Amino acid sequence: MDLKDLYRDVIVDHNRHPRNFREIPDADRRADGFNPLCGDKLTVFVKLDGGRISDVSFNGSGCAISIASASLLTESVKGKTIAEAEGLFSQMHQLLTRDDIDIDVTRLGKLGALSGVREFPARVKCASLCWHTLDAALHQQEQVSTE
Ligand code: FES
Repeated sequence: MDLKDLYRDVIVDHNRHPRNFREIPDADRRADGFNPLCGDKLTVFVKLDGGRISDVSFNGSGCAISIASASLLTESVKGKTIAEAEGLFSQMHQLLTRDDIDIDVTRLGKLGALSGVREFPARVKCASLCWHTLDAALHQQEQVSTE
């Protein structure tokens, strides 16, 4: 199995069985993210313990890429500090939008599965929706749009 197949399988798995797809009723932070191109909306919930993300979840509706990306996000940022999560947001932003810089995709673990998305510019906002929403939640903004 080559890397492309592996990455495709990760996306399919996280879309079919999204991790942490639930509300956190007593979340410390939450934000709604909206993709005006398609009308899809995700909500990201964050529970903090000190400066660390002790729990993170999402719900809402979206395409396979947006759901898989949100699911991967929750797995990746759980247990991280706010600063580490913001660092990951900026790496993911580069991964999805900059094809002029070389990013070592293997260092991103399963998140590397989203690297193929940049070949399809129309889908970049699908993959980045949850990341912008997390960033908004961490900055105590209630909503964000990918436009
Ligand atoms: Fe709406 Fe992908 S088509 S988020």
